[in-house]
Amino acid sequence: MVGSVETVSDVVNGIVKEYMAENVEPLPEELNPKKIKVPLHLKNEDGADNGENSTLVSGKREIVLGRNVHTSCLEVTEPDADDEVTGDREACMASILARYRKSLIERTRHHLGYPYNLDFDYGALAQLQHFSINNLGDPFIESNYGVHSRQFEVGVLDWFARLWELERNEYWGYITNCGTEGNLHGILVGREVFPDGILYASKESHYSVFKAARMYRMDCVMVNTLVSGEIDCTDFRAKLLQNKDKPAIINVNIGTTVKGAVDDLDLVIKILEDTGFNHDRFYIHCDGALFGLMMPFVKRAPKVSFKKPIGSVSVSGHKFVGCPMPCGVQITRLDHINALSRNVEYLASRDATIMGSRNGHAPIFLWYTLNRKGYRGFQKEVQKCLRNAHYLKDCLRSEGISAMLNELSSTVVFERPQDEEFVRRWQLACQGNIAHAVVMPNITIEKLDDFVKELTAKRSTWFKDGKAQAPCIADEIGAENCACARHN
Ligand SMILES: Cc1ncc(COP(=O)(O)O)c(C=O)c1O
Repeated sequence: MVGSVETVSDVVNGIVKEYMAENVEPLPEELNPKKIKVPLHLKNEDGADNGENSTLVSGKREIVLGRNVHTSCLEVTEPDADDEVTGDREACMASILARYRKSLIERTRHHLGYPYNLDFDYGALAQLQHFSINNLGDPFIESNYGVHSRQFEVGVLDWFARLWELERNEYWGYITNCGTEGNLHGILVGREVFPDGILYASKESHYSVFKAARMYRMDCVMVNTLVSGEIDCTDFRAKLLQNKDKPAIINVNIGTTVKGAVDDLDLVIKILEDTGFNHDRFYIHCDGALFGLMMPFVKRAPKVSFKKPIGSVSVSGHKFVGCPMPCGVQITRLDHINALSRNVEYLASRDATIMGSRNGHAPIFLWYTLNRKGYRGFQKEVQKCLRNAHYLKDCLRSEGISAMLNELSSTVVFERPQDEEFVRRWQLACQGNIAHAVVMPNITIEKLDDFVKELTAKRSTWFKDGKAQAPCIADEIGAENCACARHN
């Protein structure tokens, strides 16, 4: 290949670019752009590669396993020999990033289905992006890697321990990658405390709870739920009684994923005690991914507090707090963590976390927001979200649309829109016949008005001339919330 010249034409997001590769060593076969073939399993039956991994079945998206998305792939291409001189590559990448940013702005504007607070300003932290900040190891034991942010991490953990009423010298915790990691950790601590314990979780618990059971090969008992989405304590009691000989590890939801239902922590504890489970025979993990930071500011909500016999609480940092990267907080009792941790000589630290390397930027972002807003700032935001969620529910109901809002929640559940495009436009999370909108601090009344207006306009076309009828969702949200022809 020495001395040869070849031209490869490439389309990157609509930009056609000519490559001139000169005087280069041949690439290994598998890296040669000319030789890369689309694997058969990525092709349609007609052989065309549309890269779609989902198809529309009666208007709904069905996931087809084994077909990975490649349609929107921004290919990584090899720099040309003269790229540094011409600056073409930089210009091309800048153009792609500018377009991407524009699409993010649009997508952020139409975002209603995921519980992420997209209203934040971390401009002051831009100066830190040049550092590879990593908190690997235990937050409370300095490792020999110096580019860390443990001082911020421990400050944030202290704040949460105070919120959940656990003394500084009695708690242990860390900043996780997300709420899922908090659940994986909380349930692992429970399993280490009670190696032969059975995991109990309501069927509306997040999938990460059942994933933990599979990962740790734990016996798992699924408990029924009420229409609200809360754990059904009658069923819980019955299931505990069937397994009295084994300790119980319980996942309590402080906000379920789909309906935003808050399990009654006090009733769960009472049932454990009534059925003969002493405090040294159960472990409760509170999954507060969604509302862990909201509930403390709602007067009527069951209090999440380590003054009660609970073992751990986790929350997602990118949800109510708002953060540009996924993150979370996990707090447990210090005396539990010894069962889990191991010394790691080469880190000069202790290993008690799920992950090894840990995002050192996330604690700084959390620290920054907690400092700016404080408990009082969060309280105000919680009140605003609950008010706006009621506003949305009332608007939907007054338009004749089935809708439910749990008392302690800002998740409004309503009939699933008939049109997949509408679902995608507003990024609604759907399950069966229902969809939900999660009212976070960035969701304004104007946005809710726009949403309801669009939905009502669309419905008048979906249900025009009686050609289709709004589905009955009484089973999912209760007859009193259902506005179908039968229950209206
Ligand atoms: C109740 C609940 N637990 C856990 C999680 C997982 O959180 P994350 O997405 O931060 O991993 C979610 C996510 O929505 C959730 O709703």
